[in-house]
Amino acid sequence: MHPDVQEVLVSKEDIEKRCRELGQIISQDYAGQSLILIGLLKGSIPFLAELMKHIELELEIDFMDVSSYIGTQSHEVRIVKDLTTAVTHKAVLIVEDIVDTGKTLRVVMDLLDSRNAQSVKVATLLDKPANRLVEIEADYVGFTIPPKFVIGFGLDFDEKYRNLPYVGVLKESLYR
Ligand code: PRP
Repeated sequence: MHPDVQEVLVSKEDIEKRCRELGQIISQDYAGQSLILIGLLKGSIPFLAELMKHIELELEIDFMDVSSYIGTQSHEVRIVKDLTTAVTHKAVLIVEDIVDTGKTLRVVMDLLDSRNAQSVKVATLLDKPANRLVEIEADYVGFTIPPKFVIGFGLDFDEKYRNLPYVGVLKESLYR
């Protein structure tokens, strides 16, 4: 375990197993349709890569960068990088590493709706409902977690720890 990690919250094995399950469910739900996965940079990269292996559909991927954090504090939502693909009349699945306050998701969902996507749903690796400020729920949730500061499998603290193969709780002494 990394020395800055207090505890492992979700193991590599649990993430892989859950991605297999979610991939099967998504494949069934969208059977006969093509799908575009929209990963929100940068945190969604490992989850999107693991999840897409288990989706048996005609699939496109694209990415948006929507920034919402400064340090450990939630902040304004800002679109840093937009999509390169048109989503008009397409079934869209937004892929997130975590839904925290829900502000990022609200902004992105409203944007994609305004571009006339056929449907807009959300898959998130982690859901932290205790921190929600906006009434919004993901359609596909990997794991519901308590309101702890988590890192790994895409999630960062000051851009570090994204490469950890598990989700862990960061030692409090490092951000207090
Ligand atoms: C994080 C995370 C989600 C968002 C969730 O992104 O990846 O996109 O915040 O927070 P919210 O529900 O409170 O809006 P961040 O802006 O830190 O970018 P990153 O993925 O590059 O780390």
